Amino acid sequence: MVSNQLRDAFAEACAFIRGLYTAAPQVACILGSGLSGFADQVEDAQVIPYDEIPHFPRLTVPGHQGRLVLGHIHRVPVAILQGRAHFYEGYDLRELTLPVRVLRALGAHSLVVTNAAGSLHTDWSVGDLMLITDHLNMPGLAGHNPLRGPNDDALGERFPAMSDAYDVQYRRIVCELASEQQLTLRQGVYAMVGGPNFETPAEIRALRILGADAVGMSTVPEVLVARHGGMRVLGLSMLSNICVDAVDSKMPPANHAEVLASGKLAAEKLSRLLEGFFAQLQERTFNG
Ligand code: HPA
Repeated sequence: MVSNQLRDAFAEACAFIRGLYTAAPQVACILGSGLSGFADQVEDAQVIPYDEIPHFPRLTVPGHQGRLVLGHIHRVPVAILQGRAHFYEGYDLRELTLPVRVLRALGAHSLVVTNAAGSLHTDWSVGDLMLITDHLNMPGLAGHNPLRGPNDDALGERFPAMSDAYDVQYRRIVCELASEQQLTLRQGVYAMVGGPNFETPAEIRALRILGADAVGMSTVPEVLVARHGGMRVLGLSMLSNICVDAVDSKMPPANHAEVLASGKLAAEKLSRLLEGFFAQLQERTFNG
């Protein structure tokens, strides 16, 4: 999709949503595999299925509902994307990230991204949450980037910095909340791989050497687009499996059913943390 096609597509999607819902969201949130239940917290919810919105991706993966939920959480106007499209489904990265562009244009100044990821630490537990502090864009190193192609200066600059991709204040808020809630919160680097296959043990050991703490098949393109558009980003991974790092290991191979099942295990913890985060945002916005 070249630049003006992208602009037309997202203008059409914005106009469609505005026709149904006039309030401007402040915070956008993407709920990953098995984590879509958080959208139940939205008050005055208006739900729009992705397949009714022009140019929104059509989802093919179980556990991703494909609905935009607009409303409020702790009085913060939110737009929740219940499910996402992935690179491995065949999408161009510009198409895949269009919902983020749309929510930015509708008014969202921040993006909360969640995902299921494999843990590269064998001493972490399935169901633990990890605050993303930084990322490794493995497809990006091979040239796959949603910002590739003509740059639209009205959307963001040609060469955006990524040294501060994950907002330091938001990370601080979430760390404080986790400690108040007595919740184990891991912190680390999320490596995005293209998928759809899970990694080989050699790939897992290589990612570890590169400095990754968790690995998954999403999130990074959305973060790049959000930062390009000047949004503040909070990223959280739910660790759905411990990655197998040796051939002939006794550890069970990763599988998607396990990813969804551990989502259920961690969903309540994630919901409490996110709810606390929205309450803090509301308090800080209105009480300084
Ligand atoms: N690898 C890649 N993506 C994932 C994994 C994994 O182990 N678990 C959940 N998403």
